[in-house]
Amino acid sequence: MKTRVVIIGAGPSGLLLGQLLHNAGIPNVIIERQTPEYVLGRIRAGILESGTVELLRQAGIGERIDAEGLVHHGVEFLFDARRIPVALEQLTGGKCVTVYGQTEVTRDLMAARQRCGARTVYGAGRVELHDTKSDRPCVTYEEHGERCRIECDFIAGCDGFHGVSRQTIPAATRREYERLWPFGWLGLLADTPPVNNELIYAHHARGFALCSQRSLTRSRYYLQVPLSEQVDMWPDERFWQELKRRLPSDLAARLVTGHSLEKSIAPLRSYVVEPMQYGRLFLVGDAAHIVPPTGAKGLNLAASDVNYLWRILCAYYHQGRSDLLSRYSAYALDRVWKGERFSAFMTHLLHDFSDSTPFDKKMQEADRRYYLGSQAGLTTIAENYVGLPFETVA
Ligand code: APR
Ligand code: PHB
Repeated sequence: MKTRVVIIGAGPSGLLLGQLLHNAGIPNVIIERQTPEYVLGRIRAGILESGTVELLRQAGIGERIDAEGLVHHGVEFLFDARRIPVALEQLTGGKCVTVYGQTEVTRDLMAARQRCGARTVYGAGRVELHDTKSDRPCVTYEEHGERCRIECDFIAGCDGFHGVSRQTIPAATRREYERLWPFGWLGLLADTPPVNNELIYAHHARGFALCSQRSLTRSRYYLQVPLSEQVDMWPDERFWQELKRRLPSDLAARLVTGHSLEKSIAPLRSYVVEPMQYGRLFLVGDAAHIVPPTGAKGLNLAASDVNYLWRILCAYYHQGRSDLLSRYSAYALDRVWKGERFSAFMTHLLHDFSDSTPFDKKMQEADRRYYLGSQAGLTTIAENYVGLPFETVA
């Protein structure tokens, strides 16, 4: 079999890239190792930057987002029992974020791909990339016990942090940057009305808490917990009691509790690999970078990479611009590192660190008072939260 682009992975990165390329008349095949049900079963954040929403509209799945997505014009921070509104729209000249679960983004992209008839191989085994430094790379995989081979012009490694693509780049060529954060997030999903109409990022002496939502009837909450904690140490009642202790009394009083639909503990990691390309292999999304969820950047940075790769491949096929191919990594990494910076900044601003010195704590307190108490501070938080502009590919 032959195609123009083979995409490894049918998560948000792979599906979004596949849809944009298909809509641009660039044939592509997605190779996914799991089943569609498994891919849809992953619970992930869904705070979409305005640029991400625009890209999803370009992919043709804007209708349900526009109908069901919740546009948030602001976000709240909470520290020292003070609630600080960050007026995103006012501070950024009109930009907002949209609350729309990643699972729904994935579902919509899957449906769009099925409608357009582009090929996706689910349940693929032993996926291997070959000859990525040549001008005819190929991918081999197993389907129903048979070894299959697809020749292509380019491979997009959209296979997440534990995928095969990044490992295809020789270790001597890869430069990896990582920080493991000394705590985790205990998350709970419940069919209860959100405690607040906007998200609340709360610093508390007992630890960070986040009040988020999936809809007007489905809430998502997080608590900072030590890495040693296990989820079965946290029955629902204990979770709700601890969340109430980290909120002001008026919010705690109106918190609607209920049975958890999902509850899990996630570690926090910052990670980037450079370069994000190797010959005709391009890494996209979690295959190349991971952020702590504090800045809600995971899905948005994946969309950022897709934006650049889609535009570069369109310029190559439609205008013969082969010169842009070698610039993908630079375009993508500029925005990735700014997303990493903001995610680390938000994590440091709002979490307590057990190894902090008294001076460190004073610095954190001053940071909160400055960034959340000045126009300049609020503006920098707002413009990063709604998403920095994409660089024009030219
Ligand atoms: N072969 C084929 N598919 C693979 C392989 C492989 N060897 N390894 C992994 N995959 C698939 C996974 O099953 C998954 O469906 O690649 C897909 C990668 O999807 P994600 O991990 O969701 O990564 P990405 O599409 O970049 O989306 C990033 O997901 O993890 C969140 O916070 C992150 O919101 C961000 C988004
Ligand atoms: C979520 O709703 O899961 C969520 C929202 C904002 C974040 C992280 C997670 O920063």
